[in-house]
Amino acid sequence: MEKIAVVDFGGQYTHLEARRIRQLGVYSEIVSPQVKPEELKGYNGIILSGGPSSVYDKGAPVCDPAILEIGIPVLGLCYGHQLLSRTLGGEVKPGKVQEFGPASLSPDMGHPLFQGVKSHTEVWMSHGDEVAKLPMGFRAIGSTSDCANAAVANDERKFYGLQFHPEVTHSVEGNTMLRNFLSICGCKFEWDMKHYLASLEDQVRKQCEGKKVFLLVSGGVDSTVAFELLNRALGPDRVLGLHIDNGLMRKGESAEVLEFMNREGFHNLHVKDASEQFLTALRGVHAPETKRKIIGETFLTVKDAAAAELQLDPSEWMLAQGTIYPDTIESGGTSHAAVIKTHHNRVQGILDLMAQGNVVEPLAELYKDEVRELGRMLDIPNTLIDRHPFPGPGLGVRLLCSDGKEESIPADVTNKVNEVLQAKGLTGEVLPVKSVGVQGDARTYAHPCLIRGTRDYQIADVATTELLNRVRSVNRVVLEIQALDGAYTATAMECNRTHLDFLRETDAICTQTLYREKLYESVWQMPVVLLPLLKGGKPVFVLRPVLSSEAMTARFAELPFAVLDALWKELRTLGAGALLYDITHKPPGTIEWE
Ligand code: XMP
Repeated sequence: MEKIAVVDFGGQYTHLEARRIRQLGVYSEIVSPQVKPEELKGYNGIILSGGPSSVYDKGAPVCDPAILEIGIPVLGLCYGHQLLSRTLGGEVKPGKVQEFGPASLSPDMGHPLFQGVKSHTEVWMSHGDEVAKLPMGFRAIGSTSDCANAAVANDERKFYGLQFHPEVTHSVEGNTMLRNFLSICGCKFEWDMKHYLASLEDQVRKQCEGKKVFLLVSGGVDSTVAFELLNRALGPDRVLGLHIDNGLMRKGESAEVLEFMNREGFHNLHVKDASEQFLTALRGVHAPETKRKIIGETFLTVKDAAAAELQLDPSEWMLAQGTIYPDTIESGGTSHAAVIKTHHNRVQGILDLMAQGNVVEPLAELYKDEVRELGRMLDIPNTLIDRHPFPGPGLGVRLLCSDGKEESIPADVTNKVNEVLQAKGLTGEVLPVKSVGVQGDARTYAHPCLIRGTRDYQIADVATTELLNRVRSVNRVVLEIQALDGAYTATAMECNRTHLDFLRETDAICTQTLYREKLYESVWQMPVVLLPLLKGGKPVFVLRPVLSSEAMTARFAELPFAVLDALWKELRTLGAGALLYDITHKPPGTIEWE
């Protein structure tokens, strides 16, 4: 089988590089920088990924230079481009200017890497260093106004380097460039999801040889696809699903899951209401990471108790999970990545089971949209496949907890915010709560800034970018859609039934609105968040509708204001004090608030 190796230097987009190659019809795998040259001999090409280090940093990741002697084409991207040049005798230095975001590339139109690409094409940059001097045998085949060696080539050896990221969708013709590289590698573009499904089933059969599997089935897209896949690969007698109602699900969800599974003919599913156990474990807990860990570990405790009740012999059973790739990378699960948040399927108890070889995760290499594609191939109905993603810890993360102590915002932060907003004719304030974000590949925990005075998403977007670039202690911006009179004041909030039921009801109303207004499919996901804040003495909600395809990056969605105003009327009747609307992209925000 034709395949491409992506050497992982810890870049945020490494996995996306591998995924793009698969989307283009060629199988690809991620390999560690420690890979031995002989292990790469069966590959058609090598991609050296981006990464957060500078090539001249002490301890910066490198690979064996003998990899460059195997005689197969190599494409270096960003850090990989710099490493390629430096390894072959070129020079890498801090650039005169750093480039982040869009740049216009002027490519050498006659070069095979740029076949079909326009003479000026938008590419996405994210670098401080640059290749200042090319190695022998190389020439520049593309430049931007700030980067002379934005694209380089040694055609004789089929070595190429790109300073930008062709794999991100913002590099408009990036896919064409990657396809051209694959053609240079001699690939025929014959790989597809069908091949992947067949190899996944084989893989599962091998990994679970002589064992049965116990799968936690939330009823969402990932766990349902994993359930169907395991049933097909191992047969229903060797698979048992367990649906746990953790008290953190959406309105009526557990009953719906059960009904769906029955309708679809899954009879090997056991259901357990453990809501009391989860809520007891979460009592008095406020820190988001602690909540996540408690939820993840409680899943395991409940699973063990259910297995004991069902008299399953632990030596015969493995744990299966519907983990997908972003769960791993955000939990800091690759060698150079930071922990953004601990996904429920990556808590210590699971890591211990993994170390014993007792966990099977057939979807662990895939992104959400690939899981959906696989699900369609497995004939899972679109009504389930197209449901918005919902995190394992559910409303437990969307209900922000606090002891209610008012946190004062430093005067210099307020001043800076006012300065930016006044220059744009807007007003606003920094809210006395904190939530998780992701900036420069790392976790942030900072305040949201609320803005008022515009109903133009573009103006709000520009103000948001400026606020987030200039004010470090702010990692999100929200627009105040409607609110009662009075100040925003801190209040105590916990994952108890009263607060969860209020959020559940609000979430149900917001989702119904999306369906009613025929907006459900135009939005990728829409978390509804309950903040530990009161306005006019009533609770404050945030809507977080986003557009995304892989969940690694996202844009805020622009819902019509008339819909939001109508929604506010409903929420006010329910007892809400304010409706806020998150206008932060990811990064620097994450999709979920917590
Ligand atoms: P963030 O908030 O990190 O979320 O931008 C990216 C996607 O992942 C989902 N998410 C989770 N899914 N277990 C899951 O199964 C989790 O612990 C978890 N945390 C976040 C989130 O809903 C979004 O789709």
